[in-house]
Amino acid sequence: MSEAAAGALRPDLYDYDFQNDPIATLNRLRAEDPVHWSRHGVWYLTRYEDCATVLKDPSRFSSMAAGWGGENPLARRGGAGAQSADEQGISRNLAVSFNQMDPPDHTRIRALVVRAFSRRSIEDRRDRIQAVIDERLDAAAAKGAFDLVTDFAFHVPIIVASEIIGIPPGDREAFRGAFEKTAALMAPKRSEESWAEAVEAGRFVGRYMRDLIAERRVAPTDDLVSTLIAEEDEKGSLDGPELSSALSTIYTAAGTTTERFISSGLFLLLSHPDQWRALVADRGLVAGAIEEILRFHHPTQSTSTNRRCTVDVEMGGKTLKAGDTVRMGLGAANRDPAVFPDPDRFDIHRKPAQPALAFGAGPHFCIGSALARFEARLAIETIADRWPDLRLVTTAPVKDPRRHDRYREIIVAVS
Ligand code: HEM
Repeated sequence: MSEAAAGALRPDLYDYDFQNDPIATLNRLRAEDPVHWSRHGVWYLTRYEDCATVLKDPSRFSSMAAGWGGENPLARRGGAGAQSADEQGISRNLAVSFNQMDPPDHTRIRALVVRAFSRRSIEDRRDRIQAVIDERLDAAAAKGAFDLVTDFAFHVPIIVASEIIGIPPGDREAFRGAFEKTAALMAPKRSEESWAEAVEAGRFVGRYMRDLIAERRVAPTDDLVSTLIAEEDEKGSLDGPELSSALSTIYTAAGTTTERFISSGLFLLLSHPDQWRALVADRGLVAGAIEEILRFHHPTQSTSTNRRCTVDVEMGGKTLKAGDTVRMGLGAANRDPAVFPDPDRFDIHRKPAQPALAFGAGPHFCIGSALARFEARLAIETIADRWPDLRLVTTAPVKDPRRHDRYREIIVAVS
């Protein structure tokens, strides 16, 4: 039993038991202590209205350096001064990107990047995304029973993101592998060994991005790297490190989130057979199903998005001090009964009065929302066409202890 369930209500937000099954704890926090001073030295919010207020107000809640809050792993190593210049450069490249900036820098960089992810640009990629889905499903189906996570959902978003950015096929495995290791640079719980591995992987990622940008400067193509370089040259608006870290952010943000979205979404649909059958019979239900999946199982369910208070703020009877870090439990906000009646019921027919906060809100609203929804839609529709009777073998998936919020496996059988 988790600590919160036993009565203490001081959950360790990084504990595996909590991450594996966070809903009961999050529901209790929302009911009993919605503006919670956590054991990690950050405020943790679980109500929809409080989260929306913070997301939409960048003047009182800054994104600048809000990434780790009170638990900045770099600070715990003895402050930024304890890092080598090399380590500082690596963490800057990977962690300090436009998503952790405020206006005007955030506005300037976001305006350049966002165009590549408009609904129109994504629709233009339909054939290619469909081809990636078909290839992965053909390979998976050859096995008879396959894993929705590692045989399918893992690959689709990362291939699509690599194609958009311009990472050549031959480099993708090494790049992905290195990126997975860099996660330890930002993880609050990690060993010295994984830190050393992450620093080495960070060097590789930094070098790789610099080389790719240098290559595209000489020989541009139609990929995102070349587009952003052209904008840099024309408007002088993106410098080299900004370009490199923006690309790294997009790569990270696009991969694991969408993997979890597709795999947990298919699990939810297949484990509610009445709703799956209704969707197979009526594709008009897919759009609502996608929104319900995002609401019901937020891809970063257990922890979430951070801001830093610029002034003292009163919220939920507490005083949040200037400089304090505020963390929004978006998965918890999306189960708030004040906004979503009967929130713990999965229902693809739901017509919510307000949108779930799955992609955030306000100036940092996810730039990849159209892409993620489109990939999930094609994945669900393709599987419904191919295997209307797809059967779940795994009935109670668990999270992978090494990879925050990712399911370890969800085995399905095609006959
Ligand atoms: C289901 C999948 C996804 C979920 C749940 C998700 C969620 C989010 C959330 C909650 C934010 C806001 C963070 C904040 O306010 O601090 C965000 C921002 C962002 N997302 Fe996504 N995301 C997903 C997919 C993607 C994809 C496919 C991309 C690829 C382009 C992407 C790129 C970004 C970027 C670059 C930002 C930062 C935007 C900014 O700061 O202006 N995301 N995402």
